[in-house]
Amino acid sequence: MENIHVIVDSMSRQGSNNIAITLVPVDEHTPLPLWEAGSHIDLHLPNNLIRQYSLTGNPHQTDHYQLCIKKEDNSRGGSQYVHKQLRVGQTIQISAPRQAFAMQEAENYLLIAAGIGITPILSMAEALDAKKQPFTLLYYVKNHTFAAMFRRLNTGFQYGSVQILSSDDGQGLRSITPELLQKPQANTQIYMCGPEGFMAHFTDVATTHGWLNEQIFIEAFHPPALNKANELDADTFIVTLRSTGQSYTVPAEKTIANVLQENDIYVPLSCEMGMCGACLTKVHCGEVDHQDTVQSDEEKCATEQYIALCCSRAKSATIEIDL
Ligand code: FES
Repeated sequence: MENIHVIVDSMSRQGSNNIAITLVPVDEHTPLPLWEAGSHIDLHLPNNLIRQYSLTGNPHQTDHYQLCIKKEDNSRGGSQYVHKQLRVGQTIQISAPRQAFAMQEAENYLLIAAGIGITPILSMAEALDAKKQPFTLLYYVKNHTFAAMFRRLNTGFQYGSVQILSSDDGQGLRSITPELLQKPQANTQIYMCGPEGFMAHFTDVATTHGWLNEQIFIEAFHPPALNKANELDADTFIVTLRSTGQSYTVPAEKTIANVLQENDIYVPLSCEMGMCGACLTKVHCGEVDHQDTVQSDEEKCATEQYIALCCSRAKSATIEIDL
């Protein structure tokens, strides 16, 4: 699908470190594509970066999209551009919404957000409220000055309740286990978005109290962290290009994409987090250590193998790819 041209209609500060952006179609008579709670879009920034951000707000509105973007300390250029250079009135391109965090049918929902993870969770709360479905939203922040979308959350919902929990006030997950989490309900699903460590800890606490893994849904927006074993065993391997026969050494601290780019080989990259599929490349021989979240388990086990050059590695000493 072709990119969509939108205008930055407004920008507003959301807590001390986040900016909400409202995007409207260039042609005000053409609505934006429909989207569902949990969807995200690619934002094509004028500095040639493409970044993925969750849509937030009410999924029933197609006259505008809303994003909320945190200023990342370790920005790879996307959030820094948004915070420092993007301005109201600028025209930019976006992709159509994509869904990677869809909600399933349930009787009740527990929505958990930490930090900027509130963006998809808020859209879920809006969707549930519109469907008159009960939910509880727990929003974890360091302190209230960091809370994004605070005014909207403070207004409340007709069918759901919201609690904003501040770790500076001793309400962090490591201090208190919410009562709801201590009583697993068979007909309730948990949806969670936040830093990986937070989600891993929350999942651990939930399953310890009897929640089933099948009841817990996580926004896999970040690349899965290499586990300790992988970090230690992430040995150097050789990547060979089928077109030229040239081989390059990929050390443990670099991705295949890094190494190829250093050697002036074009690699189609977008998210650089293993979630968009832009860099998926066919493998001719060698065993892939899949680290992406864009391919399904079936695809990762299929006879015809594709490797995400931005994050995946080789289990074999060499790997030959279709470049
Ligand atoms: S660049 Fe998106 S999966 Fe590799």
